[in-house]
Amino acid sequence: MSDTPLDPSDIDTHRAQFRERLAALRSIHELKALADEYLGRKSGKVTALMAKLRELPREAKGEFGALINTLKQELEASLASKREALESTQMPAGAVDVTLPGRALPLGRVHPLMQVRQQVEDIFARMGYEILEGPEVEDDYHNFEALNMPQDHPARDMQDTLYLAAPVRSSVGTPATLLRTHTSGMQIRYMEQHQPPVRLIAPGRVYRRDGLDLTHSPMFSQIEGLVVGERVTLADLKGTLVAFALELFGLDRQTRVRPSFFPYTEPSAEVDISCGSCGGTGINCGMCKRTGWLEILGSGMVHPAVFEAVGYDPERYTGFAFGLGIERVAMLRYGIPNIRLLFENDPRMLAQF
Ligand code: DAH
Repeated sequence: MSDTPLDPSDIDTHRAQFRERLAALRSIHELKALADEYLGRKSGKVTALMAKLRELPREAKGEFGALINTLKQELEASLASKREALESTQMPAGAVDVTLPGRALPLGRVHPLMQVRQQVEDIFARMGYEILEGPEVEDDYHNFEALNMPQDHPARDMQDTLYLAAPVRSSVGTPATLLRTHTSGMQIRYMEQHQPPVRLIAPGRVYRRDGLDLTHSPMFSQIEGLVVGERVTLADLKGTLVAFALELFGLDRQTRVRPSFFPYTEPSAEVDISCGSCGGTGINCGMCKRTGWLEILGSGMVHPAVFEAVGYDPERYTGFAFGLGIERVAMLRYGIPNIRLLFENDPRMLAQF
C-alpha cells in the first residue's frame, strides 16, 4: 500500500470494512484477531496508514492525520464496546451450559452366562417347564443324602465343598450345612412340596473344591431339570434332551446319548453334541480333544431310592432328571478358552457378546 498515494476515501473504505467485520464476529478470540489486523503495531492496516503520513507534504499531513486519528479512536471505541458485549454473554465461571450435547453413557449388555441361561430357560419354558431357584446354602440331606449319596458314598469325593457347620455322621435330617455342589438338591426340595406331574428347571450357582484350571472354578452355575409322571420313559429323556441340544446349538449338530453313572439316576446317560470346531471329525482338534464330541449334560432316569426319600411311589411314578453347566455351554458356544474370563467382567471381553 505504501507505493500508492493516500486518498481520503481509503479511510472510509477501511471504516466500512471494519464495521462489517466487527458486526459479524462472535468471540473474544475473533475480536482480538480483528483488533490486530487493524491496529497491530507491526502490520495493522491503520498503522500502515499512519506510516504513509510521513510521505505527505506538510499541508496535507494535518488534514490526513486528523482523519486517521478519528478512525483509530472510533475503531478502539467500537472494539471496546464489542468486547464488553461479548463478555457479558459469556458464562460465569462454574456455570452449567445446558446447551452442550449430553455425554453418551456406554450401554451395558447381557452377560454371556446370563444369555445362555435365558436361552435354556426359554427353550424349556416353551416345553411347559416351571422355572425355580433353590438355596445356595444347602443341607447335607438335600445335597447328598436324599439323592442316594449316603455319608460314605464314594461319589461325594468328587464334590467336596465348604461346610458351614461341622458335618455330622449320616442320619436323615442332619443339620450340617454346606455350599451346594450341584443344583440337584432342588429335585428333592420340589418333590417334598409337590405331587406329580413335575416338569421343572432350576438354574443357580454351585460350589466345589476344584483346582482352578482353564475349565474349572470353585464357583460356577448349573441348570437342573426334572420330569416326573406316570409312564415317563427313557425315550422321553432322549427325545427331550436331544431336541433341547439341537435347539441350543443348531440343527446341523449331531447328538449322542452315552451311558454314564450318577447315584441318583438309573440308568444314567450323558448327552454329547458333535464338535463345532472340527465338524465332528476330531482331526487335530483341541476343542474336543480329538474325539469329535463335546459333553454337554448329565442325565438319567430318577432312581427309585430318590422317589422313596420324598414319599413318591416308585412303582407308580417314573421320571428323568438332567443337569448342565452354564459356563461350559457358554465356553463351547462362544469359543471362550478360559473360564475365568467369564468372572473377571472385563468390558473388552464382555463387549464381544
Ligand atoms: N448333578 C450332576 C453334576 O453336578 C449333574 C446331573 C447328572 C444332574 C445327572 C442330574 C442328573 O439331575 O440326572 O455333575
